[in-house]
Amino acid sequence: MTDALPIGMFDSGVGGLTVLREVMRQLPGESTVYFGDTARVPYGSKSRDVITRFSLEIGQFLLQEKVKMIVVACNTASAFALPTMRQKFKVPIVGVVAPGARAALAATQSRRIGVIGTEGTIESQAYSEAIHYLDPKAEVFGQACPLIVPLVEEGWLEKPLALEVVKEYLTPLLTNRIDSLVLGCTHYPLLKNLLGQVTGPGVKLIDSAEETARAVGQKLREDKLEAPSGSSGAMRYFYVSDAPEKFEKIGRRFLGQELPAVKRVDIGSWI
Ligand code: DGL
Repeated sequence: MTDALPIGMFDSGVGGLTVLREVMRQLPGESTVYFGDTARVPYGSKSRDVITRFSLEIGQFLLQEKVKMIVVACNTASAFALPTMRQKFKVPIVGVVAPGARAALAATQSRRIGVIGTEGTIESQAYSEAIHYLDPKAEVFGQACPLIVPLVEEGWLEKPLALEVVKEYLTPLLTNRIDSLVLGCTHYPLLKNLLGQVTGPGVKLIDSAEETARAVGQKLREDKLEAPSGSSGAMRYFYVSDAPEKFEKIGRRFLGQELPAVKRVDIGSWI
C-alpha cells in the first residue's frame, strides 16, 4: 500500500526547514506541508502548557490540510508536546528527540553525551530521558544556549562574536569529557563548523535533522504510507502565522534553496 498525501511538518519558525531539507533529500518523492509559527516564535523560552497548546492548534491545522503524518521539527515542541499530540491525533507523529537520542548512543563510545538546546528543551530533560530509556548507564550533560538562535537567524555563522558565544556555552560542557554532542535545536546544524572548531575532532556532532528524516522514512515504510514510486513531482506547501516575506528571505538559508510562495494563515489563539 502507498499514500500520496503529504507529510505535515511544523516548527516555531524557520528552523524546522533544516529538518524539511533532510526529508526532501532523503525522501524526494514525498509531498510536504510546512507550518512555521512565526507569530509566536520563539518557543524555547515558553512553558510546557503554552507550547502544548500551540502544538495541538498546529496539529489541527495540518490535519485539515490532509497530511498522513506529522513531523514535529521543533525540539522544544517535541520535548514538551509529543505525548499529548500522540493522544489526540490518529496520524503517526514523529519528533526530533528520540531520533537524536538514538543517534547519540550509536555514536558514543564513552557513553558521556552532551546535549545543547533551548531553555525549554534542556529543562524538560527530554533528551536525558530518551537516552536513559535506551541506555540507563549513559551519562547526559545538558546546556541551554539561548543566544545561539538569534545569532543564526541573523546569519552570523562565522563571526568572532558567534565563536565567543559558542565557547562560553561549550567550555563548561566540555569539562565533562563528552565524546558526542547532540545539536538539540533546529538552528544548530547551521553552526556545525563553528561548533566543531570549539569541540575539536574528539567530539561527534549529532545532527537531529538527519536522524529525524531517517526516522520519518522508516515510519512511512512500517506503516505502508510511502508515496507511490514514480509519482510525478512532490508538492511543497509553506504556511506561516506572520510575515511570509521575512520567512521566505531567512528560510532560504535553512532550506538551502529558494522557497515557493509562502502563505499566511490565522490559526489558534494568541497568548
Ligand atoms: N525551533 C526551536 C527548537 O528547535 C528553536 C527556536 C525557538 O526557540 O522557537 O527548539
